[in-house]
Amino acid sequence: MLAGRTAIVTGAGRGIGRGEAVALAAEGATVVVNDLDATQAGAVVAEIEAAGGAALPDSNDVAAWDGARALVAGAVERTGRLDVLVNNAGFLRDRMSFSMDEAEWDDVVRVHLKGHFAPSKFAAEHWRAEAKAAGDAPPRGGAIVNTVSEAGLYGGTGQANYVAAKSGIAGLTVGLARELERYGVRVNAIAPRARTQMTEAVLGDYAAPPADGGFDEWDAGNIGPVVAWLASDEAADVTGQVMVVFGGRIHLFEGWTMVGEIEQDERWSVEAIAARRPELFGECRPGLPRMGFGR
Ligand SMILES: NC(=O)c1ccc[n+]([C@@H]2O[C@H](COP(=O)([O-])OP(=O)(O)OC[C@H]3O[C@@H](n4cnc5c(N)ncnc54)[C@H](O)[C@@H]3O)[C@@H](O)[C@H]2O)c1
Repeated sequence: MLAGRTAIVTGAGRGIGRGEAVALAAEGATVVVNDLDATQAGAVVAEIEAAGGAALPDSNDVAAWDGARALVAGAVERTGRLDVLVNNAGFLRDRMSFSMDEAEWDDVVRVHLKGHFAPSKFAAEHWRAEAKAAGDAPPRGGAIVNTVSEAGLYGGTGQANYVAAKSGIAGLTVGLARELERYGVRVNAIAPRARTQMTEAVLGDYAAPPADGGFDEWDAGNIGPVVAWLASDEAADVTGQVMVVFGGRIHLFEGWTMVGEIEQDERWSVEAIAARRPELFGECRPGLPRMGFGR
Protein backbone atom coordinates (compact mmCIF):
# COMPACT_ATOMS: atom_id res chain seq x y z
CA MET A 1 0.00 0.00 0.00
CA LEU A 2 2.89 2.41 0.75
CA ALA A 3 5.72 1.21 -1.50
CA GLY A 4 8.01 4.07 -2.52
CA ARG A 5 6.61 6.40 0.15
CA THR A 6 8.44 8.05 3.04
CA ALA A 7 6.87 8.15 6.50
CA ILE A 8 8.06 9.85 9.68
CA VAL A 9 6.91 8.47 13.04
CA THR A 10 7.78 10.56 16.10
CA GLY A 11 8.47 8.83 19.42
CA ALA A 12 8.83 5.55 17.55
CA GLY A 13 11.56 4.04 19.73
CA ARG A 14 9.04 2.02 21.72
CA GLY A 15 5.35 1.54 22.50
CA ILE A 16 2.66 2.61 20.05
CA GLY A 17 5.10 4.55 17.82
CA ARG A 18 7.29 1.48 17.39
CA GLY A 19 4.26 -0.54 16.26
CA GLU A 20 3.27 2.22 13.83
CA ALA A 21 6.78 2.33 12.33
CA VAL A 22 6.79 -1.47 11.91
CA ALA A 23 3.31 -1.46 10.29
CA LEU A 24 4.17 1.37 7.87
CA ALA A 25 7.41 -0.41 6.89
CA ALA A 26 5.50 -3.67 6.39
CA GLU A 27 3.31 -1.80 3.87
CA GLY A 28 6.46 -0.79 1.97
CA ALA A 29 7.20 2.71 3.30
CA THR A 30 10.69 3.88 4.16
CA VAL A 31 10.25 4.93 7.77
CA VAL A 32 12.15 7.66 9.61
CA VAL A 33 12.11 6.33 13.16
CA ASN A 34 12.32 9.38 15.40
CA ASP A 35 12.90 9.19 19.15
CA LEU A 36 14.76 11.37 21.64
CA ASP A 37 16.34 8.10 22.77
CA ALA A 38 18.74 7.36 19.88
CA THR A 39 19.45 3.83 21.12
CA GLN A 40 15.75 2.92 21.06
CA ALA A 41 15.33 4.50 17.61
CA GLY A 42 18.33 2.50 16.32
CA ALA A 43 16.89 -0.73 17.71
CA VAL A 44 13.58 -0.20 15.86
CA VAL A 45 15.45 0.60 12.63
CA ALA A 46 17.40 -2.67 13.04
CA GLU A 47 14.15 -4.58 13.70
CA ILE A 48 12.53 -3.17 10.54
CA GLU A 49 15.63 -3.91 8.44
CA ALA A 50 15.82 -7.45 9.81
CA ALA A 51 12.24 -7.97 8.58
CA GLY A 52 13.25 -6.79 5.09
CA GLY A 53 11.98 -3.21 5.42
CA ALA A 54 13.66 0.18 5.06
CA ALA A 55 14.16 2.62 7.94
CA LEU A 56 16.38 5.47 9.09
CA PRO A 57 16.96 6.71 12.63
CA ASP A 58 16.44 10.27 13.88
CA SER A 59 16.81 11.61 17.42
CA ASN A 60 15.63 15.21 17.15
CA ASP A 61 13.41 16.71 19.85
CA VAL A 62 10.11 17.11 17.97
CA ALA A 63 8.89 19.82 20.35
CA ALA A 64 11.83 22.09 19.49
CA TRP A 65 11.25 24.28 16.42
CA ASP A 66 14.73 23.53 15.05
CA GLY A 67 14.44 19.84 15.94
CA ALA A 68 11.18 19.52 14.02
CA ARG A 69 12.65 21.42 11.06
CA ALA A 70 15.71 19.12 11.04
CA LEU A 71 13.53 16.00 11.27
CA VAL A 72 11.43 16.95 8.24
CA ALA A 73 14.37 18.30 6.21
CA GLY A 74 16.41 15.19 7.04
CA ALA A 75 13.63 12.86 5.86
CA VAL A 76 13.34 14.74 2.55
CA GLU A 77 17.12 14.93 2.04
CA ARG A 78 17.73 11.26 2.86
CA THR A 79 14.82 9.75 0.91
CA GLY A 80 13.94 12.43 -1.65
CA ARG A 81 10.32 12.83 -0.52
CA LEU A 82 7.81 12.97 2.32
CA ASP A 83 4.38 11.36 2.26
CA VAL A 84 3.33 10.60 5.83
CA LEU A 85 3.88 12.24 9.20
CA VAL A 86 2.71 10.37 12.30
CA ASN A 87 2.86 12.62 15.38
CA ASN A 88 3.03 10.30 18.37
CA ALA A 89 5.84 11.32 20.77
CA GLY A 90 4.98 12.38 24.28
CA PHE A 91 4.98 11.70 28.01
CA LEU A 92 2.84 12.26 31.12
CA ARG A 93 3.36 14.34 34.26
CA ASP A 94 0.10 13.50 36.03
CA ARG A 95 -0.94 15.59 39.03
CA MET A 96 -4.20 17.04 40.34
CA SER A 97 -4.64 20.64 39.20
CA PHE A 98 -4.24 22.07 42.70
CA SER A 99 -0.87 20.30 43.14
CA MET A 100 0.55 20.76 39.62
CA ASP A 101 3.66 22.91 39.25
CA GLU A 102 4.57 25.15 36.33
CA ALA A 103 7.14 22.77 34.84
CA GLU A 104 4.66 19.87 34.84
CA TRP A 105 2.16 22.01 32.94
CA ASP A 106 4.70 23.47 30.50
CA ASP A 107 6.53 20.20 29.75
CA VAL A 108 3.38 18.25 28.85
CA VAL A 109 1.80 21.03 26.79
CA ARG A 110 5.14 21.49 25.02
CA VAL A 111 5.84 17.86 24.14
CA HIS A 112 2.30 17.08 22.92
CA LEU A 113 0.85 20.31 21.51
CA LYS A 114 4.02 21.95 20.21
CA GLY A 115 5.46 18.50 19.47
CA HIS A 116 2.53 17.94 17.09
CA PHE A 117 2.38 21.42 15.58
CA ALA A 118 6.10 21.94 14.89
CA PRO A 119 6.67 18.84 12.67
CA SER A 120 3.27 19.45 11.01
CA LYS A 121 4.27 23.05 10.22
CA PHE A 122 7.48 22.00 8.45
CA ALA A 123 5.77 19.10 6.66
CA ALA A 124 3.01 21.50 5.52
CA GLU A 125 5.66 23.93 4.27
CA HIS A 126 7.18 21.09 2.22
CA TRP A 127 3.85 19.89 0.77
CA ARG A 128 2.70 23.43 -0.05
CA ALA A 129 5.97 24.12 -1.93
CA GLU A 130 5.54 20.83 -3.81
CA ALA A 131 1.95 21.71 -4.74
CA LYS A 132 3.00 25.16 -5.98
CA ALA A 133 5.82 23.63 -8.04
CA ALA A 134 3.34 21.18 -9.60
CA GLY A 135 1.39 24.12 -11.06
CA ASP A 136 -1.94 22.97 -12.46
CA ALA A 137 -1.20 19.28 -11.90
CA PRO A 138 -2.97 17.72 -8.89
CA PRO A 139 -0.74 17.96 -5.79
CA ARG A 140 0.93 14.75 -4.61
CA GLY A 141 0.05 15.84 -1.07
CA GLY A 142 0.50 13.82 2.06
CA ALA A 143 -1.08 12.49 5.24
CA ILE A 144 -0.68 13.51 8.86
CA VAL A 145 -1.88 11.23 11.66
CA ASN A 146 -2.01 12.88 15.08
CA THR A 147 -2.31 11.19 18.45
CA VAL A 148 -4.94 12.33 20.90
CA SER A 149 -6.30 10.47 23.90
CA GLU A 150 -9.65 9.59 25.41
CA ALA A 151 -8.41 11.70 28.34
CA GLY A 152 -8.48 14.66 25.97
CA LEU A 153 -11.91 13.77 24.57
CA TYR A 154 -13.65 13.18 27.92
CA GLY A 155 -11.40 14.90 30.47
CA GLY A 156 -9.14 12.67 32.58
CA THR A 157 -8.84 13.33 36.30
CA GLY A 158 -5.35 14.33 37.51
CA GLN A 159 -4.22 15.14 33.97
CA ALA A 160 -5.21 18.79 33.33
CA ASN A 161 -1.96 19.40 31.39
CA TYR A 162 -2.46 16.29 29.23
CA VAL A 163 -6.21 16.84 28.76
CA ALA A 164 -5.59 20.41 27.58
CA ALA A 165 -2.81 19.34 25.20
CA LYS A 166 -4.68 16.35 23.75
CA SER A 167 -8.00 18.16 23.23
CA GLY A 168 -5.94 20.95 21.67
CA ILE A 169 -4.50 18.38 19.25
CA ALA A 170 -8.04 17.22 18.34
CA GLY A 171 -8.92 20.82 17.45
CA LEU A 172 -5.60 21.26 15.65
CA THR A 173 -6.37 18.16 13.57
CA VAL A 174 -9.59 19.65 12.21
CA GLY A 175 -8.00 23.09 11.69
CA LEU A 176 -5.03 21.67 9.78
CA ALA A 177 -7.33 19.40 7.75
CA ARG A 178 -9.26 22.46 6.52
CA GLU A 179 -6.14 24.53 5.91
CA LEU A 180 -4.16 21.90 4.00
CA GLU A 181 -6.96 20.31 1.95
CA ARG A 182 -6.11 22.50 -1.06
CA TYR A 183 -2.58 21.03 -1.08
CA GLY A 184 -3.85 17.45 -1.07
CA VAL A 185 -2.88 16.89 2.57
CA ARG A 186 -5.17 14.85 4.83
CA VAL A 187 -5.04 15.23 8.61
CA ASN A 188 -6.65 12.75 11.01
CA ALA A 189 -6.17 11.75 14.64
CA ILE A 190 -6.30 8.52 16.60
CA ALA A 191 -6.89 8.10 20.33
CA PRO A 192 -5.12 4.80 21.05
CA ARG A 193 -5.42 2.49 24.02
CA ALA A 194 -2.56 0.07 24.62
CA ARG A 195 -0.21 -1.46 27.15
CA THR A 196 3.04 0.56 26.99
CA GLN A 197 5.59 2.04 29.36
CA MET A 198 3.24 5.05 29.63
CA THR A 199 0.26 3.02 30.84
CA GLU A 200 1.53 -0.25 32.34
CA ALA A 201 1.78 1.08 35.91
CA VAL A 202 -1.88 2.23 35.86
CA LEU A 203 -3.23 -0.78 33.96
CA GLY A 204 -1.34 -3.51 35.85
CA ASP A 205 -2.75 -7.04 35.52
CA TYR A 206 -6.00 -5.67 34.06
CA ALA A 207 -4.28 -5.34 30.68
CA ALA A 208 -2.15 -8.50 30.85
CA PRO A 209 -2.03 -10.65 27.69
CA PRO A 210 -4.68 -13.41 27.83
CA ALA A 211 -3.29 -16.58 29.42
CA ASP A 212 -4.95 -18.74 26.73
CA GLY A 213 -2.89 -17.05 23.98
CA GLY A 214 -6.03 -15.44 22.44
CA PHE A 215 -6.19 -11.99 20.88
CA ASP A 216 -4.24 -9.54 23.07
CA GLU A 217 -6.32 -6.39 22.64
CA TRP A 218 -3.92 -4.32 24.75
CA ASP A 219 -0.91 -5.10 22.51
CA ALA A 220 0.62 -1.80 21.34
CA GLY A 221 1.13 -3.38 17.90
CA ASN A 222 -2.65 -3.29 17.29
CA ILE A 223 -2.59 0.45 16.54
CA GLY A 224 -0.09 0.49 13.63
CA PRO A 225 -2.24 -1.09 10.89
CA VAL A 226 -4.98 1.52 11.47
CA VAL A 227 -2.41 4.28 11.05
CA ALA A 228 -1.04 2.58 7.91
CA TRP A 229 -4.60 2.56 6.49
CA LEU A 230 -5.09 6.26 7.32
CA ALA A 231 -1.76 6.97 5.59
CA SER A 232 -2.70 5.03 2.46
CA ASP A 233 -4.56 6.05 -0.71
CA GLU A 234 -7.40 3.76 0.38
CA ALA A 235 -8.26 6.53 2.88
CA ALA A 236 -7.80 9.30 0.29
CA ASP A 237 -11.21 10.82 1.17
CA VAL A 238 -10.74 10.60 4.95
CA THR A 239 -9.69 13.85 6.61
CA GLY A 240 -10.46 15.85 9.76
CA GLN A 241 -11.51 12.66 11.59
CA VAL A 242 -10.83 11.54 15.16
CA MET A 243 -11.08 7.85 16.00
CA VAL A 244 -10.48 5.80 19.12
CA VAL A 245 -8.44 2.67 18.37
CA PHE A 246 -8.27 -0.20 20.86
CA GLY A 247 -7.61 -3.88 20.13
CA GLY A 248 -9.91 -4.76 17.23
CA ARG A 249 -12.18 -1.71 17.62
CA ILE A 250 -12.25 1.57 15.72
CA HIS A 251 -14.74 4.12 17.08
CA LEU A 252 -15.36 7.29 15.06
CA PHE A 253 -15.89 10.46 17.09
CA GLU A 254 -17.38 13.85 16.41
CA GLY A 255 -16.56 16.53 18.96
CA TRP A 256 -18.34 19.62 20.17
CA THR A 257 -21.56 19.00 18.32
CA MET A 258 -24.42 21.42 19.09
CA VAL A 259 -27.02 19.51 21.08
CA GLY A 260 -29.32 22.29 22.37
CA GLU A 261 -30.28 25.80 21.39
CA ILE A 262 -32.32 28.76 22.62
CA GLU A 263 -32.53 32.09 20.86
CA GLN A 264 -34.30 35.46 21.26
CA ASP A 265 -34.13 38.80 19.48
CA GLU A 266 -32.68 40.75 22.41
CA ARG A 267 -29.84 40.49 24.96
CA TRP A 268 -30.37 37.69 27.50
CA SER A 269 -31.14 38.36 31.17
CA VAL A 270 -30.37 35.85 33.90
CA GLU A 271 -34.11 35.42 34.50
CA ALA A 272 -34.86 34.85 30.81
CA ILE A 273 -32.18 32.13 30.57
CA ALA A 274 -33.53 30.47 33.72
CA ALA A 275 -37.05 30.45 32.26
CA ARG A 276 -35.92 28.71 29.04
CA ARG A 277 -33.24 26.48 30.53
CA PRO A 278 -35.32 23.27 30.07
CA GLU A 279 -35.37 23.96 26.32
CA LEU A 280 -31.57 24.32 26.24
CA PHE A 281 -30.83 21.06 28.00
CA GLY A 282 -33.84 19.07 26.76
CA GLU A 283 -34.03 15.71 28.46
CA CYS A 284 -30.33 15.80 29.46
CA ARG A 285 -29.16 16.80 32.88
CA PRO A 286 -26.46 19.49 32.79
CA GLY A 287 -23.75 17.33 34.36
CA LEU A 288 -20.48 15.75 33.31
CA PRO A 289 -20.44 14.13 29.85
CA ARG A 290 -20.65 10.35 29.72
CA MET A 291 -17.39 8.47 29.19
CA GLY A 292 -16.90 6.27 26.11
CA PHE A 293 -16.81 2.52 25.79
CA GLY A 294 -15.73 0.85 28.98
CA ARG A 295 -14.90 -2.69 29.89
N1 LIG B 1 -0.68 3.90 25.72
C1 LIG B 1 -1.92 4.35 25.70
O1 LIG B 1 -2.89 3.65 26.10
C2 LIG B 1 -2.20 5.74 25.19
C3 LIG B 1 -3.50 6.23 25.37
C4 LIG B 1 -3.81 7.48 24.83
C5 LIG B 1 -2.85 8.20 24.15
N2 LIG B 1 -1.58 7.70 24.03
C6 LIG B 1 -0.60 8.50 23.31
O2 LIG B 1 0.11 7.70 22.40
C7 LIG B 1 1.42 8.22 22.19
C8 LIG B 1 2.47 7.14 22.43
O3 LIG B 1 2.36 6.70 23.76
P1 LIG B 1 3.02 5.35 24.30
O4 LIG B 1 2.01 4.77 25.23
O5 LIG B 1 3.54 4.53 23.19
O6 LIG B 1 4.22 5.95 25.19
P2 LIG B 1 5.75 5.50 25.40
O7 LIG B 1 6.18 6.25 26.62
O8 LIG B 1 5.89 4.03 25.37
O9 LIG B 1 6.50 6.09 24.10
C9 LIG B 1 6.66 7.45 23.87
C10 LIG B 1 7.97 7.68 23.16
O10 LIG B 1 8.09 9.09 22.83
C11 LIG B 1 9.46 9.47 22.97
N3 LIG B 1 9.55 10.92 23.17
C12 LIG B 1 9.15 11.65 24.25
N4 LIG B 1 9.39 12.95 24.05
C13 LIG B 1 9.95 13.08 22.82
C14 LIG B 1 10.40 14.18 22.04
N5 LIG B 1 10.34 15.43 22.52
N6 LIG B 1 10.91 13.94 20.80
C15 LIG B 1 10.99 12.67 20.31
N7 LIG B 1 10.57 11.59 21.01
C16 LIG B 1 10.06 11.79 22.24
C17 LIG B 1 9.91 8.67 24.19
O11 LIG B 1 11.35 8.57 24.22
C18 LIG B 1 9.22 7.34 23.98
O12 LIG B 1 10.03 6.40 23.29
C19 LIG B 1 1.53 9.43 23.14
O13 LIG B 1 1.23 10.61 22.44
C20 LIG B 1 0.46 9.13 24.18
O14 LIG B 1 0.04 10.31 24.83
C21 LIG B 1 -1.24 6.49 24.54
